Amino acid sequence: MERLQKVIANSGYTSRRKAEELIQKGKVKVNGNVIYELGTKVSNTDEIEIDGNVLQKEEQKVYFLLYKPRGVVTTTNDDKQRKTVVDLIDTQMRIYPIGRLDYDTTGILLLTNDGVLANALMHPKNQIDKVYIAKVKGLIGKEQIRALQMGVVIDGKSTSKAKARIKKYDKKTDTSIVELTIHEGRNHQVKKMFEAIGYTVLKLKREQISFLNLVGLKSGEYRMLSPKEVKKLYYEVSKEI
Ligand code: URA
Repeated sequence: MERLQKVIANSGYTSRRKAEELIQKGKVKVNGNVIYELGTKVSNTDEIEIDGNVLQKEEQKVYFLLYKPRGVVTTTNDDKQRKTVVDLIDTQMRIYPIGRLDYDTTGILLLTNDGVLANALMHPKNQIDKVYIAKVKGLIGKEQIRALQMGVVIDGKSTSKAKARIKKYDKKTDTSIVELTIHEGRNHQVKKMFEAIGYTVLKLKREQISFLNLVGLKSGEYRMLSPKEVKKLYYEVSKEI
């Protein structure tokens, strides 16, 4: 027997906090009865319904590491019928992306049906490093790098401390390549951080999430995580929350 909100969160439907809100709002039924009590325990034979949808029980957990190409949306299904990251993966399992990369951003993206790991990795408190390589218009100076490191204001709130370093300049094309390591995951964060210091991102690639990288993969390719890697990811998130 497990607590209702935990079972909902574990299914990947939403976070535990949101699950609690849904219960308190009377949106959750167990075996046809509306449940308001947060401590209610359920077993895996109970049928849970949220807003009229029966919660699917995913038994086997799967984990994919995708090298996302440009021109693909990070969602499970796009109302404009564009290709999604889930379309690139050959599986019968109901997987979804952990976090988001923009349509024109490339690089490492994890997809899973493991709601516990997905929620933990996306938790705002987690300190999982994500490494981005940005090609920006203009030549970046030390002061701007320092600003990125110390935090810049985006959407009215300062970003946390970050790691930033210039990888390359190209005076001819008037562009710079910057490596930026952040652990937050705010909307369009990298592009907005450069915008805040007066630069436009021309190309963006995420090279690393924690200890995971793109070695051995070409754009559009994917692989499954090994059980050891999954265990290590769990360890990384447990340190933080
Ligand atoms: N920051 C962005 O601006 N875009 C991404 O796709 C990821 C991080």
